[in-house]
Amino acid sequence: MNFAEIIEAERIILKQPEPSFELAKEIFAAIEESRENLEPWLPWCKKTTKAEDSFGFLKDWCEKNRTEKTGYAYLIHDKTTGKYLGCIDFMKVSDTDKSGEIGYWIRTSAQGKGYMSEALAALEKEVFGQGINRIYIGNDTRNIRSVNVAKRAGYHLDGVLRQNRWDDYSQSFVDSNVWSKLKEEYK
Ligand SMILES: CC(C)(COP(=O)(O)OP(=O)(O)OC[C@H]1O[C@@H](n2cnc3c(N)ncnc32)[C@H](O)[C@@H]1OP(=O)(O)O)[C@@H](O)C(=O)NCCC(=O)NCCS
Repeated sequence: MNFAEIIEAERIILKQPEPSFELAKEIFAAIEESRENLEPWLPWCKKTTKAEDSFGFLKDWCEKNRTEKTGYAYLIHDKTTGKYLGCIDFMKVSDTDKSGEIGYWIRTSAQGKGYMSEALAALEKEVFGQGINRIYIGNDTRNIRSVNVAKRAGYHLDGVLRQNRWDDYSQSFVDSNVWSKLKEEYK
């Protein structure tokens, strides 16, 4: 499967990144702005303390994507201003099962405007169009905003994995939802 390098939506554009330190600085600035919203849900965020960490992540992701073809990161930019807004990933892609997981985050100043719902719809269109049969989303049952993204997009709650993850942030074992959408359900 060969997913598009660039996906255009109404207000945003999704691009698979070409790693550069300039881009890493933009991503890091968005993380800095958004720590309060990101840290409870994304363990990598606390470990990202400087632009070099974002650069390392970008390079590793791109290298892995190109060699293994099991994960695709799309950076989300505002179509009009070009501002970096966040990221949506298609990960754990299985060519055999024709499935993969979507993960996402958006900078705090861009939250609550429907950008992630728009990004999700655009990515779904691309991956179902390329032959994917099942997309799934995993989220912490307490992460209401993320839960609402999956619900708003019509995902089916396959189940709750009880205490399946140790969460450093809350120092507890936490429950995770698994949501999915099948190609036959996609409109
Ligand atoms: C999860 C996350 C991406 C959700 O972002 P979001 O902006 O709430 O998501 P959406 O793009 O679906 O936007 C929905 C909101 O925009 C509003 N909205 C405005 N214009 C809209 C439009 N054109 N279309 C849809 N919604 C719109 C909706 O009413 C809703 O508002 P509400 O939050 O007041 O109910 C964000 O909270 C985040 O990055 N969290 C931290 C990281 C994280 O938890 N990632 C997920 C890990 S599994």
